[in-house]
Amino acid sequence: MFKFLFSSIGQKIQIAFSGLALAVFLLFHLFNNLVLFTGAENFNNMVSFLKSIHILVRVLEVGLVAIILLHIINAIMTTVKNRKANNGKYAVAANTAPQSSKTMIWSGMIILFFFIIHLRYYWYTFQNMAKDADFFEVMLRNEFGYLGHTPTAIFYILAIILIASHLKHGFVSVFKTIGLPSKYRDQIIHYLAFIFWAIIPLGFILVVLYIQYLSRL
Ligand code: HEM
Repeated sequence: MFKFLFSSIGQKIQIAFSGLALAVFLLFHLFNNLVLFTGAENFNNMVSFLKSIHILVRVLEVGLVAIILLHIINAIMTTVKNRKANNGKYAVAANTAPQSSKTMIWSGMIILFFFIIHLRYYWYTFQNMAKDADFFEVMLRNEFGYLGHTPTAIFYILAIILIASHLKHGFVSVFKTIGLPSKYRDQIIHYLAFIFWAIIPLGFILVVLYIQYLSRL
């Protein structure tokens, strides 16, 4: 079993399923953030409810960190294996490699930087606030790291677009890995992938724009 998990196909399956789990997290995360559109009171109540079940939230967060690590480690190991198999060269000449592969290192680094900024400012600030605090006000702050601050908002939009392209690329691979019959595969890839790589990122961008609008009122 252990041997299978770390074989080439086992690792691809791990990347696929950890990626799917992360995409599902994003869907829930978007729903939480959409509560912002219903006003400060609802948003504050939602965050304070999450604080009241913080033990459960903590367990889910530990699971999330484990899944992110699994995803990154398997992705790196698979890349290294592939490069070794190619004797340090790409199978395809550098100038014909797909754009998404060429920009993977840079986009990966920017996404990682986004994670650090995002968790440092929002997650960490929320952790240190009382259950009945004004979380809505934090969302609108016009300081570096918060979305009322225009350069930070622009950086968020850029990171969200990069995450979207990563999801699009990933979804095609997931279905190739799982190996659904191509008749269904094409349809599923088309519709399901569209929700994940287009609708969810668009939802996050709307949240960023709405916060910018509110903080200018
Ligand atoms: C408009 C964009 C976003 C906003 C306004 C937002 C807001 C927040 C807030 C307020 C928290 C702290 C929640 C708490 O401690 O109760 C948080 C946590 C988190 N966010 Fe985001 N987020 C956004 C986009 C994203 C994206 C695109 C990702 C991933 C690619 C992401 C990943 C996370 C993770 C992993 C956590 C920590 C886990 C958790 O406590 O839920 N966020 N976010």
